[in-house]
Amino acid sequence: MAAVTLPAGYFEQMYDASPDPWSFRTRWYEQRKREVTLAALPRRRYARAFEPGCSIGLLTEGLARRCDWLLATDASATAVAAARRYHSERSERCELRIEHRALPDGWPREEAPFDLVVLSEIGYYFDDADLATVLDDAIGSLAPGGTLLVCHWRHRVADYPLAGDAVHGAVRARRVLHRAVCHDEVDFLLDVFTLGDVPSVAQDEGLAP
Ligand SMILES: C[S@@+](CC[C@H](N)C(=O)[O-])C[C@H]1O[C@@H](n2cnc3c(N)ncnc32)[C@H](O)[C@@H]1O
Repeated sequence: MAAVTLPAGYFEQMYDASPDPWSFRTRWYEQRKREVTLAALPRRRYARAFEPGCSIGLLTEGLARRCDWLLATDASATAVAAARRYHSERSERCELRIEHRALPDGWPREEAPFDLVVLSEIGYYFDDADLATVLDDAIGSLAPGGTLLVCHWRHRVADYPLAGDAVHGAVRARRVLHRAVCHDEVDFLLDVFTLGDVPSVAQDEGLAP
C-alpha cells in the first residue's frame, strides 16, 4: 500500500515521549545545519516569511533575526506551546507569530505574499499528492523574486512516505523556480530557489556584472 501523509498524532506521540525529539538543543549536527541554513539565505533581511513545521522554535530563532515579520506553524500543539514558551523569553526585532496549523490544509494563503518560505525537514512527511499541493501553495505564495529554502535529511526513515532526495527532486522539477544555492552532503540536501531570475548576492552588491 502506498504510504500516506503522516497525521499530526504521529508527531504528538513523539513530543509526548520527548520535549525535543530530534535533540535540536543539544546536537552539533542540528546546530551546524541551522547555521548552514541561515548562511544560505541570499538576502540580509526578509519582510514577510513563513516557516511551517517549526517544532520547538530553534530554527525560528535564527530566522526571526533576519525577518521583519515571521509566521511559524506546526501540526503539533505541544510543539507550538513549547516554541511559544521559548520565544516569550526572547526579544527579536521581528513580529513573530507561532500558530497551530497542519499542512496542506492549513497553508496560510490569507497571509501571502511571502518573500521567504522555509521548508526544512517537513517535505518527506507528505505523500506525493500532498507534497504537490504544498509546493503549489509555496510557489503561489511567493512574492516575485522571493526565496524558497528547502532542506532535508537524506537517510531513509521507514515511517516517512518520501525520502529527502525525492522531495528535492519534486521541487527541482518546478521550472518556475531558479536554483540559487545547492548544498549537497552525505546527510542532507539544501536548495535555495528564487521565484524568477534575481541578481546573485555579488551582483546585488555591485561586485559582479
Ligand atoms: C524535524 S521537525 C523540523 C523542525 C525545523 N523545521 C527544522 O528544520 O529544524 C518537523 C516538524 O514538522 C511538524 N510537522 C509534521 N507534519 C506537519 C504538517 N503536515 N504540517 C505542519 N507541521 C508538520 C512536526 O510536528 C515537527 O515538529
